[in-house]
Order: sequence, then structure tokens, then C-alpha cells
Amino acid sequence: MNPIDVVIIGGGMITYDLLLPSIYHLQRTGFINKIKICALDSAPLKILRNSKEISEAFPGQDFEAFPPLTEPEKNKFPELYKEVIASMKPRQMVVVAMPDQFHYQVVMEALKNNQHVLCVKPLVLKYENAVEIEKLAYEKGLFVGIEYHKRFDRRSLIAKRNCELKQFGEFVMGEAKLIEPYYYRSSNFQNWFTCDKTDPFVYIGCHYVDLVYFITGLKPVEVSVSGIKGKFPNGNEGYLWTSGRVRFENNAILSVIDGLGYPDEAAGSNDQSLQMFFEGDGKTGMIKHDDQFRGVEHSYLDGIGSGGSHFNYVSPDFYKLVPWEGEGYKPVGYGFESVSASVTAAYQIEKEVEGVPESDSLARRQKMIKNIDKKGIIATPANSFINELVVEAARISILNDGDIVDIVYGQTPHVKLRSKK
Ligand SMILES: NC(=O)c1ccc[n+]([C@@H]2O[C@H](COP(=O)([O-])OP(=O)(O)OC[C@H]3O[C@@H](n4cnc5c(N)ncnc54)[C@H](O)[C@@H]3O)[C@@H](O)[C@H]2O)c1
Repeated sequence: MNPIDVVIIGGGMITYDLLLPSIYHLQRTGFINKIKICALDSAPLKILRNSKEISEAFPGQDFEAFPPLTEPEKNKFPELYKEVIASMKPRQMVVVAMPDQFHYQVVMEALKNNQHVLCVKPLVLKYENAVEIEKLAYEKGLFVGIEYHKRFDRRSLIAKRNCELKQFGEFVMGEAKLIEPYYYRSSNFQNWFTCDKTDPFVYIGCHYVDLVYFITGLKPVEVSVSGIKGKFPNGNEGYLWTSGRVRFENNAILSVIDGLGYPDEAAGSNDQSLQMFFEGDGKTGMIKHDDQFRGVEHSYLDGIGSGGSHFNYVSPDFYKLVPWEGEGYKPVGYGFESVSASVTAAYQIEKEVEGVPESDSLARRQKMIKNIDKKGIIATPANSFINELVVEAARISILNDGDIVDIVYGQTPHVKLRSKK
């Protein structure tokens, strides 16, 4: 089986911190052939190409840049991704890593051009768009994975199993937190993280809502999110903090606080945790995850830690480059495992149908996609659609000062601002 080509659309932080290193590793381990990256302009592509950290980890590996690095940074190419995708061989993979509000158009473009997809979370901002994506992908026998990497954290998988075995009881009350660093405010975020487009709950709170659904299987039915606005350095106004409350179908409540404000000087690199309480027979059960301090502390001579800090809590679990048997360094952690799961799913699907006539190939691919949906480990449009409903409800709620928005399931799931009596 030939390895698959990968085109990454978007060359920003997530591409640098996780996607490109993971994809490079999958290239040298035989799953991926050629890599192309398309960004809005050449600036982020230069950072990726000139990164000492990346080139030391992946000696001799490279990507083709769109636009080319020689293009002046001021020139913008918002439509170039269409040409790059159109030039791909059928049934390779497009990795979507651009700001949330563009995911829908790029995923659809990839599917129309017969490509498998890996999309960073959230897949899209509207439930009906997720349904459209699911339908088109299934019709064409194309795999769509969504990069909810917290599902691949071992502690989430352990909790999911224990929950399936009914070892905790019935989820009743929970609290989650994910506060990203202050320095995010001076990054490219300030250009797109505006009040009208997104907020910290939608950006990162959704990870924990997805996780509670992943662990318990319970669907959220009610969302309310309040936000605190502030100014980015370029003067744009965004919600910098949010407090969200999600009620689940069994009446359980999860409260979630999020923000772009974890102190740069603190041990970080962010702050995050999940605690869930369960009702049992004459006793209660509990899950408690400290997702920030995972037991490793480093104090560096220079300020090379997150936000320029010296003293750092280091997570060996999410993503780190470490020595291995081969040349350079390899990525380890649930971030890498999550990317790898989707890339290898596309690879396995193509392997399964290699040499099979198209008349049989489609049905076989569809069967494999249904199995992945059912398994529920990799997030797909079919098994993680509650996230689109939550995101949609959250946006309505925050723009209505925290009013409750109901999620109504049934024939056509939808969200509805609850009328005030
Ligand atoms: N924990 C996570 O799962 C996680 C973490 C970070 C980011 N993300 C997601 O990744 C996405 C990108 O985030 P980021 O932090 O990398 O953002 P970023 O602002 O650093 O990068 C965005 C990139 O998109 C590119 N882009 C914008 N318009 C484009 C166009 N028309 N054509 C081609 N490229 C275009 C820009 O050039 C830039 O390289 C967001 O959806 C975010 O929610 C997920």
C-alpha cells in the first residue's frame, strides 16, 4: 500500500506545535508520502521551515509551501487552498488547521475534491453544517476525523472504560477548567478571536464538554455561557473569559471556566482540570483529573519555558519531542496519538480497498467509516455532533448575556433560546 499525500491548510500555532511534527513522524514511519502546507501568506510557512526545533527532530524532511516562501509576506492568498486541494490525487488527506469560522468551507472543498479529512476542533460552528459534512463524506466513502485529542489521553480512556463498567455510578455534578496563557492575546488570535466569532468556551471549553460526553455517553441538553470582554493589543474586542454551564440529559450539571489569561510567569503552561461526581447506591463515586500538573517540574537556566518562564510544570502526556531509536526526535503523547489515529484510519481505509473495483470499494469504505463512528474513539461528525450543538447554543447564549439555550434532539436536532417567562 502506498503512503498517502497530506495537505495541511493553515500554518499557525497548532500546525507548529502538533500537526506538522506528528505528520513528519508518520511520514518517516511509512504512512505519509508528500506533505504540502498552504497558509494565508508566507509568514507562518517561513516560521515552520526555519524552525530549528522541527528540523533537528526531523532531519532531511520538508514540505512544499503555498504560497512559496519567496512571496512577500504582505501578499494574501485566501483562495489558494482551493487550487492546492484541486491538484491532489483522489482519496489522500486534507488537514484543516485554520481559524474555526473557515473549517466548513475548507472541509467541504476537500470532500468535493474526494479527499479524506482531519479537522482540528471544533469541526464547524453550526450543527446543520456538521450534518452536511457527514452526509457528503459518507456518500463518497470519505473519512472525516476531528482532532479532539483529549479523548486519547490515557486518563480519559481509563475513565471511559470504568464508566462503561458502571464503576462510578450516575454522573451528577462536575467542574472543568481550561485557562490558556496570557501571551495568546498577542498572537494571531487577536485577528480572529473577536466577540462576534468565538469565545474561550467555544475555543477550549468544548474539549471538556466533549470529554464528559465521551466518558459518560450523556448528551448535553442545555447550555448557558457568560463572558467577560476585553481588548487585544491590536484594539480588537474579544471575550477573554467565560463561565459556562451545561446540563446533560440525565439532569447532571457541568460547569466550565475558560480564559486567555493564565499568567505567563506561572508554571503553566496553562491550567486545566476535570472533576466529576457520581451518585451510587448509598455512596458516591468520583473522577478527578489534574490535567496541568502531571508530576514533572523543570527549572531551566534560561527562560525557555512557556511564556518565557524558568520554572515549568511539564506534561509528558500531551505532546513532547523525545529521543528514539531513529534519527532526530519523535513526538510522543496523546496529541500525536490522536493525529496518528485519524491519519492511519484514512490509510487503513485505502489499504482495505487497494485494487478493489470502485463498485465494491465504496461499500467497503462506508462500512469502515460506520465502524469508526460506532467505536466512538476518534471523533467523527456522526459521533461528536453534540459538540456542534453545544457550540451553536453557546454562541447564542453568550451573545444574549448568558441566557439559557436548549438543545432539542429528535428528528432534526436544533438549539433554541429559552423564552423568558
Ligand atoms: N487544543 C486544540 O485542539 C487546538 C489547539 C489550538 C488550535 N486549535 C484549532 O486550530 C485552528 C487554528 O488555530 P491556530 O492556533 O493554529 O491559529 P493561528 O491563528 O495560529 O493560525 C491560523 C492559520 O490559518 C491560516 N489561514 C487563515 N486563512 C487562510 C486561508 N484562507 N487559506 C489558508 N490558510 C489560512 C493562517 O495563515 C494561519 O497560518 C483553530 O480552529 C483552533 O480552534 C485546536
